[in-house]
Amino acid sequence: MSRFAYVNGRYRPQRDACVNIEDRGYQFADGIYEVIHIHDGRFVDTDLHLARLARSLREIAIPAPMDDASLLVVLREVVRRNRVHEGIVYMQITRGVARRDHAFPKSVPPSLVVTARHGHPFPRDIASWAGIAITVPDIRWGRCDIKTINLLPNCLAKQRAREAGAYEAILIDRSGHITEGASTTVWAVDANGILRTRHLDDYILPGCTRAALTALLRDSAIPFEERGLTEAEFRDAREVFLTSATSFVKPIVAVDGVPIANGLPGPITTRLFTLFTRHADGVAHNAAPRLASATGIG
Ligand code: PDD
Repeated sequence: MSRFAYVNGRYRPQRDACVNIEDRGYQFADGIYEVIHIHDGRFVDTDLHLARLARSLREIAIPAPMDDASLLVVLREVVRRNRVHEGIVYMQITRGVARRDHAFPKSVPPSLVVTARHGHPFPRDIASWAGIAITVPDIRWGRCDIKTINLLPNCLAKQRAREAGAYEAILIDRSGHITEGASTTVWAVDANGILRTRHLDDYILPGCTRAALTALLRDSAIPFEERGLTEAEFRDAREVFLTSATSFVKPIVAVDGVPIANGLPGPITTRLFTLFTRHADGVAHNAAPRLASATGIG
């Protein structure tokens, strides 16, 4: 089946869809993106993703190409044309097309590209969804909170993971703390049984899945702290898992070849896997909108 893309006002067969070679996304990675999971034909955590998209645009002073309602129409149309029921919708906004010059061009409209693609069905069996990870140094820049298309360090890290047969590369910063995965949020249950993920600041992306899960955690009795782990604490963890729009809640059962605890998904990871599955299935569908501002995303 041929795929369709939206490019600057037109829906095109994807093989014919193209952008100008002087688009600043192509020249400078001067743009931002979002990935929204489509489950059972619905977008998951749409409001969180649109709030983060708006924030990313604001932070690098790119005007929004259209309002949220219009963008949603485009997203839905791309998904409809591609007949995606389980998968992702991808949107990318760049500063637009201009003669190559580092400083911002004046009065240039931003470029918007939207694609959608089929993905693996939502995992139902936690054991078969478990994966392994490696650790690599975090060599990224100082504004990882912005979801820019400038992903070269993330790609280098992910490639190292693939070559090691691992699902994810977990990044360790210069101070010896875990930041996040190449394309995921990292969580761990520490040696004291406390669920932890790093606090939000300029050095990690405020994950939408993280925000949704944090809200779900409020009604659980699971002890939780937004406090990063040192490498030593991380290697001592009882449980490790990742979250993202495409990883959901993904148990990590070994890091750098060393099993985490008994090498099986742990009890807290299993509870959160179930909670998030219910959320994605729509049981807690109304939790997301009121979260955007409370979670560092909006
Ligand atoms: N990645 N950290 C990084 C560096 C990411 O790239 C992502 C998402 C996340 C998790 O964010 P969220 O829960 O909102 O998906 C954390 C997407 C899926 C990607 O680049 O394809």
